[in-house]
Amino acid sequence: MIKEEIDIRVNGKTKIMGVLGNPIEHSISPQLHNTISKLIGKNIIYVPFMCSSENLETAIKGLKALNCYGFNVTIPYKEKIINYLDECSDEAMLIGAVNTVVNRNGRLIGYNTDGDGYAASFEDATKTSFLGKDILVFGAGGASRATTLKAATKGAKTITIVNRTEKKSDEIAKLINNNTSCKAFSLNYSDTKLNTLLRKSDIIVNTTPIGMYPNVDESINKDIVFSDNQIVYDLIYNPTETLLLKRASEQGAKILNGLGMLIYQAVLAYEIITGVKISEELFSTIRTLFLDINKHI
Ligand code: ATR
Repeated sequence: MIKEEIDIRVNGKTKIMGVLGNPIEHSISPQLHNTISKLIGKNIIYVPFMCSSENLETAIKGLKALNCYGFNVTIPYKEKIINYLDECSDEAMLIGAVNTVVNRNGRLIGYNTDGDGYAASFEDATKTSFLGKDILVFGAGGASRATTLKAATKGAKTITIVNRTEKKSDEIAKLINNNTSCKAFSLNYSDTKLNTLLRKSDIIVNTTPIGMYPNVDESINKDIVFSDNQIVYDLIYNPTETLLLKRASEQGAKILNGLGMLIYQAVLAYEIITGVKISEELFSTIRTLFLDINKHI
């Protein structure tokens, strides 16, 4: 009989996973991954790895040397990390960003589960797909690259990327046009075509941090008029309903926040690193548990 006071959660056989980034204090990945391990009874611990830019290479060598099972990568290293990995999936290379690294017999292999998390959460919540859809996306950063490429490979008809720095949206449009049969366009916020395009779009996606906590009173283009046959997807999950989503919902559009994508990309990363398949039942339990996560972070 083990004495109750003895902490037996971590022992000599415990595998180590984690999330590498800077800052890292606000990440909910530790809670998500440790909850999954707890629910399926895996002897794995998932911890935050705060790392400064100048120590990135050393940190990755250290993780390899210490036989880290696998880790996630977040802001600001999703792109830079590729230089220090042994191999990357084709999709991660195309996106130019990695959010999941698995240690396979001492070789670090990079993946990107953001796109699949985005598509799965979209299909799950809307019971429809990107096939044949006209999509308008705000922002052209890492999240935009992963999500627009996924929608394009899943058969979107057109994708228009609206960004402050047009060079970045130009690049994504070129990437999509060169690699998929979707027609992609790049647009500036001040372009006169924007309002017409917004009205004609089936799906409107925000990948920028505009409206994210603590700047909850900010919103992209306050004049957008939505209709009830549109879907508005804001990748932000804190707050659960941004000003953009609030207005879209009031005008009858179907709305989605970033919580679904956050959970899906984490579950997919967990599956890649551990080789464990998460059942639908377990997924549903995790989603229910994390639905009101903003109250706890
Ligand atoms: P992520 O990895 O989450 O996508 P990112 O790569 O920093 O983050 O990208 C953020 C995106 O939001 C960028 O497209 C950025 O625009 P720029 O390319 O012009 O920098 C956009 N963004 C951030 N703050 C913005 C703001 N206040 N107004 C308009 N766009 C903004």
